[in-house]
Amino acid sequence: MKSKNEWRTDPEYVSLVEDLLAQPAVKKLANYTQHHHSNRLQHSIAVSFDSYKIAKRMHLNYRNVARAGLLHDLFYYDWRTTKFDLGTHAFIHPRVALRNAEKITPLNDMEKDIILKHMFGATMAIPKYWESLIVSLVDDFEAEHEFFSPLRAKLARKIRKRRMKTTW
Ligand SMILES: [Fe+2]
Ligand SMILES: [Fe+2]
Repeated sequence: MKSKNEWRTDPEYVSLVEDLLAQPAVKKLANYTQHHHSNRLQHSIAVSFDSYKIAKRMHLNYRNVARAGLLHDLFYYDWRTTKFDLGTHAFIHPRVALRNAEKITPLNDMEKDIILKHMFGATMAIPKYWESLIVSLVDDFEAEHEFFSPLRAKLARKIRKRRMKTTW
């Protein structure tokens, strides 16, 4: 996503997810840090919106991608501190997200697969649909982007400062 609010400028996207965004269960994702520099709601919207644009360009089911992408990390714990006996965070949290998502909206088979398989690569669960693969790849990309972009900006500022010093 080019900016935090880019998704608001796409009326079709907004119409696909506005009922979900109005849900307290989705809103409260803003209270959880995701990749150090972003909260879980910002991350979920970025994954949903970027995946939606790709799916639309590829003539795939962009409705399912937008909605399930938004719900793919619908869990409420800090993954950096909470550990589970039953498996790793990568294995557990898609299942928790699916259970929470089912409480707020009916989900079709593709939407369930998108949520459940979004950790493909870290887990062995192979996506059944192209739509699931898109969300999984965009999720990886956003995680990297959210983690590194503030560091990149900091580095760019330092380089600029040093250049200014050396030109004198
Ligand atoms: Fe996730
Ligand atoms: Fe994610």
